[in-house]
Amino acid sequence: MDVTSLGLRTNLMIVTLAGGQVEDRGEYVVARSPDNPTFWWGNFLALPRPPQPEEVSGWLDTFAAELPTAAHRTFALDSVPEPAGGPATSVLGTATAWQAPWTSAGFTSWSDSVLVAESVREPLHVNTEATYRPLASEADWAQLVELRCANDDDHEPAAYRVFVEASVRGIRRMVADGHGQWWGAFIGGRLLSTMGLFTDGSGVARYQNVDTHPDARRLGLAGTLAYRVGRWGLAELGARQLVIVAEPTGMAIALYRQVGFVDAEPVDQLEKAPPGDAPTPAP
Ligand SMILES: CC(C)(COP(=O)(O)OP(=O)(O)OC[C@H]1O[C@@H](n2cnc3c(N)ncnc32)[C@H](O)[C@@H]1OP(=O)(O)O)[C@@H](O)C(=O)NCCC(=O)NCCS
Repeated sequence: MDVTSLGLRTNLMIVTLAGGQVEDRGEYVVARSPDNPTFWWGNFLALPRPPQPEEVSGWLDTFAAELPTAAHRTFALDSVPEPAGGPATSVLGTATAWQAPWTSAGFTSWSDSVLVAESVREPLHVNTEATYRPLASEADWAQLVELRCANDDDHEPAAYRVFVEASVRGIRRMVADGHGQWWGAFIGGRLLSTMGLFTDGSGVARYQNVDTHPDARRLGLAGTLAYRVGRWGLAELGARQLVIVAEPTGMAIALYRQVGFVDAEPVDQLEKAPPGDAPTPAP
């Protein structure tokens, strides 16, 4: 299967760099992250087109056979290239009828936006108080785990921590192997905003997990860090194209556009959480 979508291609790139496996089965691609089995988007199937209603149960069987220990279900859909070589389009946007059987089977479907930049500029609000640097010490990595856990309110906390800890081990492996860096904005030694940038040496580098601690939002930290990391990626990581993925509406995408990213294409996903995955109810 030839993967067209830049978002999907760079997802698969990150899975591989973090120690997982990507296997092309011809009809589909399977991504596996044996060191992080509960990472939904590290253990998924990529499909070339939206499945027809009669194909849904077959794909569910294929998922179960390929990823037998996974409790979640995740399918990425490749984008549809325009016939005249124009930008790829969302399969979710072009047809909706095929989604009904997935919804009935408990899936949610959505499109994220893939943005690209070949240069970056400073955001409107530059934060000059923070120190911006790659994470280095054990204490830095421990702070990353805490920040990412503090920033999540969608999942069951203990299970989410297991996922984040495994994810950070994968990140450290990518850093140790020289594929990129994980950056932080620190004030008074405290990690308050963070993101990674990694490449396989192809000239394309993908941003990962932009997070600012809930106590430190709207201080200009993520914008300034995204700019600094982009500048570093283009000057020192050997990247010619920076790629970032965001929800199509909201603060994050506006921020990325502010530092110079432009919308390239959508990337479509289908996801079903494992049973029992929910935030802890407020006491
Ligand atoms: C999205 C997120 C990373 C933004 O982090 P942040 O550090 O608050 O971002 P910034 O402070 O750089 O910018 C946020 C907004 O505050 C504004 N801002 C920053 N400093 C400001 C200041 N001194 N005065 C007024 N506005 C300011 C920015 O302009 C921006 O608003 P705009 O896009 O409308 O212009 C953060 O909200 C977050 O972690 N959210 C949860 C995780 C998430 O959604 N991540 C993104 C995944 S794609």
